[in-house]
Amino acid sequence: MIHEKLANFPNNFLWGAASAAYQVEGAWNENGKGLSNWDQFVRIPGKTFKGTTGDVAVDHYHKYKEDVKLMKEAGLKAYRFSVSWARIFPNGKGEINEQGLEFYNNLINELIKNKIEPVLTVYHWDLPQALQDEYSGWESRKIVEDFTNYCIVLYKNFGDRVKNWVTLNEQNIFTAHGYMKALHPPGVKDDKLFFQVNHHANLANASAIKAFRKYIPNGKVGPSFAYGPAYPYSSKPEDILAFENAEEFNAHWWMDVYAWGEYPKAAWNYFASKGLAPILEEGDLELLKAGKPDFMGLNYYQTGTFEKNPIDGVTEFGHFNTTGKKGTTEDRGVPGLYKTIKNPYLETTNWDWAIDPTGLRIALRRISSRYRLPILITENGLGEYDNVEENDVINDDYRIKYIYSHIKSIREAVTDGVDVLGYCIWSFTDLLSWLNGFQKRYGLVYVNQDEEGGKDLRRIKKKSFYWYKELIEKNGNE
Ligand code: BG6
Repeated sequence: MIHEKLANFPNNFLWGAASAAYQVEGAWNENGKGLSNWDQFVRIPGKTFKGTTGDVAVDHYHKYKEDVKLMKEAGLKAYRFSVSWARIFPNGKGEINEQGLEFYNNLINELIKNKIEPVLTVYHWDLPQALQDEYSGWESRKIVEDFTNYCIVLYKNFGDRVKNWVTLNEQNIFTAHGYMKALHPPGVKDDKLFFQVNHHANLANASAIKAFRKYIPNGKVGPSFAYGPAYPYSSKPEDILAFENAEEFNAHWWMDVYAWGEYPKAAWNYFASKGLAPILEEGDLELLKAGKPDFMGLNYYQTGTFEKNPIDGVTEFGHFNTTGKKGTTEDRGVPGLYKTIKNPYLETTNWDWAIDPTGLRIALRRISSRYRLPILITENGLGEYDNVEENDVINDDYRIKYIYSHIKSIREAVTDGVDVLGYCIWSFTDLLSWLNGFQKRYGLVYVNQDEEGGKDLRRIKKKSFYWYKELIEKNGNE
């Protein structure tokens, strides 16, 4: 559809920015915080770019007031952040660390004082290591109870002021990277275990949402899903089938469960025939159905293009670019289902991520028409090198171009009729990019930090900061 006139963004649209605890906070062992799986994983040689850790990250833990002041100056309406589970429960359960609650209470109050709506993510990948040690974390069903209890503590303590909640951030990424590709903790390659772990995460998500209804009946809750819409490489029927497979296996496998409490049929049958489908226990499907979200959180970065992959074709283990050397990503796939191939019509970043604003509109349209849920865009942004020029000037026009084109696409989707609640840029300040160190920068605000550490961590407003501020003043309607 080519619209002659675009609809305006709603007046209560949440113009925001986002972050995650491990990537910004630092203070990894301060004020009673327990160890997380990431605190441990980053210490294994070769796991992260130049061995970077989040020990200090961008020190948001100590600098949160300065950061919120900058958010206010940018005119943010919302700030999405995550809570570190191990800061609240150093052992994952049991005794609460009051100093952990205090930190997030202070942050929430500071945001509200500055008229910024807090959007709280309960879990952005940093699992208390104690639970990994005790029962292998997500590998055990015990996690469902501990996760729900942790959520209830957050609901009880923050639910009076926080009305927008995200349960799991990118369950598809943390389970696949943790258990299929061994890129994230616990660094395992075991397809069968991956499906079981993912099922436990589904149960935990549903259980957390079910409890939410009791504690915060006037709030909104949903998971954040990393959705990269699939495209077929050609109109050859076998490539169309590969693209359908990619949608079913990479998107519906998660979002159908969130929205409907059901696994998609073709994928279930396929995995069951290979002995990989998760073991369901009595009551699981009822719980999944009881955990329907109020919105689908969408983390959008890129689309994927797919073609046929023969039964002896490429696997998931092609090289993954974490160095910023353009063109080093290898095609990946699941033999017999699909394989990725570079889209000849799209430019890529230096980390080989396809730049595709139209893909965001397609993502919004597909989610909206399949699930009939409002969508909160919980992440979208550009990871690139930034250059600090004389007098602390950063001309990140490439980031402005990226964000502007994506916002335009959202407006087109709004005109199409999609109910979009808000847009959180990833990220507000620069932060630690899990596997890519600090050189892959996303922020509207530069932080003087690098892989070696020891820098002064000063905040520098990039050109995109000022640009976003103006855009928010016009409510995105230009
Ligand atoms: C999302 C995550 O996958 O993408 C963020 O929720 C992450 O935590 C972001 O930082 C960008 O990914 P990366 O690997 O470039 O940092």
